[in-house]
Amino acid sequence: MSNVLGIRGYDFVEFYVGSAKMTAYWYAKAMGMKITGYIGPETGTRDRVSYYLQNNNLKIVITSAVQPSCFEVLSFINTHGDGVKRWAVEVDNVEAAFKYATQHGAVMVRKPEAIEDKHGYVTEAAIRLYDDTELVYVNRDHYNYIFMPGYCEPRQHINIEAEETGIIGIDHIVGNVRENEMNLWADYFNKAMSFETFVDFKPGDIGTKYSALLSKVVRSSDSVIKNPINEPYAAEKKSQIEEYIEQYHGSGVQHIALQTTDIVKTVEALRKNGLEFLDVPDTYYDMLREREDIQIAEDIGDLQRLKILCDKESTGYLLQLFTKPIGDRPTFFFEFIQREGAEGFGKGNFQALFESIELDQKLRGNLDKEPEAVMPPC
Ligand code: FE2
Repeated sequence: MSNVLGIRGYDFVEFYVGSAKMTAYWYAKAMGMKITGYIGPETGTRDRVSYYLQNNNLKIVITSAVQPSCFEVLSFINTHGDGVKRWAVEVDNVEAAFKYATQHGAVMVRKPEAIEDKHGYVTEAAIRLYDDTELVYVNRDHYNYIFMPGYCEPRQHINIEAEETGIIGIDHIVGNVRENEMNLWADYFNKAMSFETFVDFKPGDIGTKYSALLSKVVRSSDSVIKNPINEPYAAEKKSQIEEYIEQYHGSGVQHIALQTTDIVKTVEALRKNGLEFLDVPDTYYDMLREREDIQIAEDIGDLQRLKILCDKESTGYLLQLFTKPIGDRPTFFFEFIQREGAEGFGKGNFQALFESIELDQKLRGNLDKEPEAVMPPC
């Protein structure tokens, strides 16, 4: 079933960061993305720079302020650190999608607007998400040049060599919200975007004896957009979602899952490029070998060597793994996922995953409710 708002799929994700030039280099070198567009003072934009990077359907924009007058970027960075400012969906008709959203409770950020240059025009509008994030509707049917009007070919970072990673595009984008806010945001998506609740993880479904969370997944009816929303759930120690809210100073995007059709090859390349992943104990793979209900094409030895997780559902299986937080704060990270018929989110892996995250949380002194004293390792 196609979705009623004519949503075609994910479009771009824009990060606000401290130094766009250096972060773009990281995305090119570690994630194997190509820098293909740039705006900044040299192209007539005085107060900010943006680098546009692409890999198959994955489109990322990295933006920094270069003048104190660029309050929008600077105030975001000041509060949240580096993070996702906006993510976009491509739609058939921006005006129609925006009108539907605002008539169904969405908070307007930007009205539909055509942005043009000599190559054509792109239509955009935006609604609010979480504390300080935007969901953008975009249509680029009438534009035939680099990313958006105003973008030029980059002058810097054009010859960076990195391992080819085979990343195809976005599978899902996850938001973290405060206690008692999950249902509010799930309803917001379901009404404004005509989404439906796909999975609802209740108390006791996800957690260790120390920390827990609740999660709901909302999605478009044809599943091209999937948006899990997590909130902390009371437990003995501090939930990873609480740590995020504290360190990000608010609700926002926690992780983006990127699709691949060959996760072994992808992770091999990403590890060569220097990406750091959450650890998985060898006992996880001993248990995986003993499970007779999972028949997979991949070699479990490869999964163990690369610390890739595997989960089985009635319709198939999925392979996934998670990076450590990519910035200085323990906030945003990436997931890589290969779906072989499975539509879920790896519920069977939550235990192993949580234990791994808690180990890192403890090292940061953020697992106990009160800040812990951290012993320097050297
Ligand atoms: Fe995920």
